[in-house]
Amino acid sequence: MSQIKIFDTTLRDGEQSPGVNLNKLEKLEIAKQLERYGVDRMEAGFPASSQGDFQAVKAIADTIKGTSVTGLARTVKEDVDIAWEALKGADEPRVHLFLATSPIHMTYKLKQTPEEVMNTAVNMVAYAKQKFPQVQFSPEDASRSDWNFLAQIIERVIDAGATVINMPDTVGYTTPKEYGEMFRFIKETVPNIDRVDLSCHCHNDLGMAVANSIAAVENGATQVEGTINGIGERAGNASLEEVGVALKIRSDYYPYHTNLKLNETKRTSDLVAKLTGMYVQANKAVIGRNAFAHEAGIHQDGVLKNKETYEIITPEMVGVNANTLFLGKHSGRHAFKDKVKELGVDLPDEKVKEAFVKFKQLTDHKKEVTDDDIFTMLMEIQTDIASVNKYQLEMFQVQYGTANIPTATVRLKTPEGNAIETACTGKGSVEALYKTLDALIAEELRLVDYQLNSVGGGKDALAESHVQLEVNGKKVNGRGAAQDVIEASAAAFLNGVNRYIVGQNQAQTKEAVK
Ligand code: KIV
Ligand code: ZN
Repeated sequence: MSQIKIFDTTLRDGEQSPGVNLNKLEKLEIAKQLERYGVDRMEAGFPASSQGDFQAVKAIADTIKGTSVTGLARTVKEDVDIAWEALKGADEPRVHLFLATSPIHMTYKLKQTPEEVMNTAVNMVAYAKQKFPQVQFSPEDASRSDWNFLAQIIERVIDAGATVINMPDTVGYTTPKEYGEMFRFIKETVPNIDRVDLSCHCHNDLGMAVANSIAAVENGATQVEGTINGIGERAGNASLEEVGVALKIRSDYYPYHTNLKLNETKRTSDLVAKLTGMYVQANKAVIGRNAFAHEAGIHQDGVLKNKETYEIITPEMVGVNANTLFLGKHSGRHAFKDKVKELGVDLPDEKVKEAFVKFKQLTDHKKEVTDDDIFTMLMEIQTDIASVNKYQLEMFQVQYGTANIPTATVRLKTPEGNAIETACTGKGSVEALYKTLDALIAEELRLVDYQLNSVGGGKDALAESHVQLEVNGKKVNGRGAAQDVIEASAAAFLNGVNRYIVGQNQAQTKEAVK
């Protein structure tokens, strides 16, 4: 059994999903969970792309020690220098350089000849190698590139110091057989290829990202790149949990294994879904809500007689347990603290106290508090952007009835500390609420997307809301949880606005420091 390294790019390619924007604390939480999941390498972001991403990559590189941390960079010195500043605190600093090699990208996007592309790639890999012990190079759009040109550029960048060569199917165009053949060709043609890890990176535009990745592995790839829940640009990337479970379940056929702790799959998937607002479809392989549900009578009958008749993956293998009923009204601080530890959330003492107060409030209204409820609450506190002045909800009231005009009254505390209040009507409760918030908040606001989900089942389940807003023309996401759907909706809206304000504060601080 040979080991396949898992390279997670949820925090970089995944974060490029439309509508996803994670803050530093959220990225750090996901990074810690990826480490627990056992990924070998994680791409924490693209440090030169923004100050926020730089700070997030730096925090992850300084914190995560069990997984090698990398950052993306274009083949320009400034990107490599910025990546070094972000990653130099990592145990094994690693940079990921990319440059397109397909005729269509070189001609229209780069407007460069193949020789120019070759020189830039070689020079920049050599430059990066002066700083980084580990340098990954990706010929972008490799699957639509000329194989002979690919072989030449790969040989040259390995001589210049690359330690990993990643051949991406950037636009999700390839097929398993074709992609496998490309890996075999490179393996057989490039004389120094055994000095590096050979990596695959597949997009899912034709729904073949996982199949293509496994075909690459069968033909010499030793690293698979992908994301949790398959999130990413357009139709997303190869879903890492599917790759890990496929190799495990079919280990009778595939002679490969990964370091993934598969029983952390569910928790990893849930965390990514919760923080990105990209929930997985019920019928998603491995992790969807229906993946272990057997509806048809004939299936149920078979499963009762012998689970293996219809079940090839056990829920336990991927960490799907019956949602254990957890602490209740009479549970004490000690038991609560133990639960926080068990859920793997690292909170300082004062935040545990804050969480305990919220937990007690919840038990006043909810008899059966589940692990999911607790985890949702902890994430609210853990990723709260508490250090800046922001809008705070002091009070709200929404009147709704089939015979009334829905009306909302809201009192807010502004970032300057003033209490402001107004009321508006709308066609429904949420519209009335959002119109009122809009009237009170000084920024220019537009609601782009709104989602409401329940955390677990039951009539008294917590509600979780995600919104996407345009604040002064800039897209931001917001997230909020509460027992009431309207309160969760208000929290998500304000969270979005406050994230914008935090971003503005950071930008101003940066200006002032310059
Ligand atoms: O899809 C792609 O080509 C990429 C590169 C940056 C590796 O994400
Ligand atoms: Zn990609």
